[in-house]
Amino acid sequence: MPTAAIVPAAGRGERLGPGAPKALREVAGVPLLVHAVRGLCDSGQVDLVVVAAPPTDRAAVESLLRPVVADVALAVVDGGETRQQSVAAALDSLPDDVDVVLVHDAARAFTPAEVCARVVAALRAGAEAVVPVLPVADTIKQVSGATGATGATGNTVEATLDRTSLRAVQTPQGFRRDVLVRAHAASSAGATDDASLAEALGVAVTVVDGSDEAFKVTRPLDLLLAEALLRARATSAYDEEPPGPGAPQAG
Ligand code: CTP
Ligand code: MG
Repeated sequence: MPTAAIVPAAGRGERLGPGAPKALREVAGVPLLVHAVRGLCDSGQVDLVVVAAPPTDRAAVESLLRPVVADVALAVVDGGETRQQSVAAALDSLPDDVDVVLVHDAARAFTPAEVCARVVAALRAGAEAVVPVLPVADTIKQVSGATGATGATGNTVEATLDRTSLRAVQTPQGFRRDVLVRAHAASSAGATDDASLAEALGVAVTVVDGSDEAFKVTRPLDLLLAEALLRARATSAYDEEPPGPGAPQAG
């Protein structure tokens, strides 16, 4: 099963604040995108990495990643205005022989290899689409008028969702290539993940355990967490899993 990993990395990182595009912001002196691509290559699960880069940085991204990928093939394409368009551009460029595709956010730069392995194992076992998930720690409420990225101070709560059935979804998400191609062909809207496009086609999406370390670098605090995680990994001071993502949820 020749496997490609598409890495959408063309976002601006507005929630991170002013600075370079998010994928090129550094943690421990190394751009997030390099951490992310190194993780994919080190997982041993992929034969080809296709990065959707900010168009103005495409050449720089290619030279940055060339020494990182070693014997994994690399292609860099221009990203689009939305994440979905960036993924679609990379998907269009895949060679014919690829039959399994992972889509992995550059911003989830510290995802452990075991997560990639679980996703690929589920595809090998016959799943058409796979997402890594975590239980939700916070109680989640639906709030009137809270449609944007900003808070909703002064609005009121409409409902409290049943947390036991909710899951936060991470990447890499894995797909049979034909499923992902059909899913993208069916929608040009701005989906924030690829599995939702497959769901819209009626495809069953299988879940596997995600990881706390696969968090998405989104806000400035996440950069501090990332720096701390890398320091702890370097000294083996942090061991993930206990009590495990599938463990019962305390209040
Ligand atoms: N992404 C992309 N093309 C876009 C927008 C996003 O390839 N037009 C990528 C980002 O680079 C990131 C992933 O999609 O790796 C997840 O998006 P997100 O975390 O929202 O990143 P940004 O869009 O860069 O951040 P923000 O929404 O804060 O601007
Ligand atoms: Mg975004």
